[in-house]
Amino acid sequence: MASALSTDSAALDSCADCSWNPEGASFPEQFAWGAATAAYQVEGSWDADGKGPSVWDTFTHQGGDRVFKNQTGDVACGSYTLWEEDLKCIKQLGLTHYRFSLSWSRLLPDGTAGFINQKGNCSFKIESCAALIQGVDYYNKVIDSLLANDVTPMVTLYHFDLPQHLEDQGGWRSDATVKAFDTYAQFCFRIFGDRVKLWITINEPYIIATLGYEKGILAPGIAEPGTGAYQAAHNMIKAHAAAWHSYDRLFRKQQGGLVSIALISGWAEPFNPNSLADQEAAKWHMAFCLDWFATPIFLDGDYPAIMKSKISSTCKRQGSPLSRLPEFTEEEKVMIKGTADFFSLNYYTTRKVKYQVNTHSQISIFADKEAEEVTDPSWPVATGSSWLAVVPWGLRRLLKYIKDTYNHPIIYITENGFSQSDPAALDDTQRWEYFRLTLLEILKAIYIDGVQLKGYFVWSLLDNFEWTCGYSSRFGLFHVDFENSALPRVPYKSAIEYANVITNNGLIKSHE
Ligand code: BGC
Repeated sequence: MASALSTDSAALDSCADCSWNPEGASFPEQFAWGAATAAYQVEGSWDADGKGPSVWDTFTHQGGDRVFKNQTGDVACGSYTLWEEDLKCIKQLGLTHYRFSLSWSRLLPDGTAGFINQKGNCSFKIESCAALIQGVDYYNKVIDSLLANDVTPMVTLYHFDLPQHLEDQGGWRSDATVKAFDTYAQFCFRIFGDRVKLWITINEPYIIATLGYEKGILAPGIAEPGTGAYQAAHNMIKAHAAAWHSYDRLFRKQQGGLVSIALISGWAEPFNPNSLADQEAAKWHMAFCLDWFATPIFLDGDYPAIMKSKISSTCKRQGSPLSRLPEFTEEEKVMIKGTADFFSLNYYTTRKVKYQVNTHSQISIFADKEAEEVTDPSWPVATGSSWLAVVPWGLRRLLKYIKDTYNHPIIYITENGFSQSDPAALDDTQRWEYFRLTLLEILKAIYIDGVQLKGYFVWSLLDNFEWTCGYSSRFGLFHVDFENSALPRVPYKSAIEYANVITNNGLIKSHE
């Protein structure tokens, strides 16, 4: 399987690459070696110490087989009480960076600053309450112990777990959530920003919009095809920009940190490279995924032109003079443009893309796009995720695309990983081969393509609650035994290999 991957990649490389073998190369000095987690997926303690419910608490508690075996994140990896165990894993790997997310409703139970999660009857301002806030205490402990061990925290403010109270007011379909997010972000910058210097506002707005508000297969489970995703994305882009400006205006000078938004994207390769229609469709696929968010934030404050024209012409043909894609005002465009201090990319997979004619009978973002995604049957698929075709060379192409399209930004790969199905073997040799091939492509991106890549974060530190797959899909560098109430963490072989890479700041030459 590994050789099939290598051959595919080699065939796609240009001749200039052939003379250079990345295997012995070192990564740049100060390269950030990380792993990532997210609050709902690892913390558990879903209602401890006054934490409010998030949309994921509601979604999983409603049952209905939307999640594998109706599993929940109520306990997950128990990281809220077992943080020291996670820290041991981080130290064992020798990570330089650790990315985790804050649970918004652990800090602000109803999502607003009107109620601070506090022990006792405290009604002071945020500053005077800080010592009493359980959530703040927990995250302070995490941040302080990371720093004490020379591990740099990268903190995501919001990773899929919107406070339920805000969802009840319309969630991301409501403009009010923009303000609530900005207030929450300011709260976090104020409390943690003296020590946290790398911030991610929102994790993967594309996934939240398309799967949470268009298809309804992730929380909050809203199925509003053709409108829900566009509205949700619109407000998330504004919320991100508002938070970035708050940081810039109120905290940057004193705290000196960087703020970005984590964008997920696969790479889109034309199904038939000789077909003009498929070439266009591959571009449309990128426009409706990565560029949907990256164009406004990194380039000009507005959606990609092709996205706007495709949606509005489809709407006209469907008899509506108004586009389903909301418009930014001129003032908003100015506000959104340039609101990221680095490019945060989550990469998992690649697709071949075919032109798919829109008959206009169907109203959905996917019909608007007119591009069908196909997986090449020769690509291996991660055993724990049917969607995760393993295509390391796709990452290199995507990095080059980002460099060329978004003005050569500093990039961090803030998530990349491969799942195993449960039960998962501790000797995950094949999975490590995927990591190894991916790291080789990254080296080529850095040294041949000149991409400014500053770091790489494995998803995930631990096996955890993998959304609709529950605990059946294992992405961890450490195995977690969810049947054992002590939730022991044991390294997979990939963890040991990754630790070697970190120690050497490079891959050790294989002697096969
Ligand atoms: C998400 C993670 C998720 C991973 C694997 C990413 O899109 O940020 O929360 O577990 O993919 O599915």
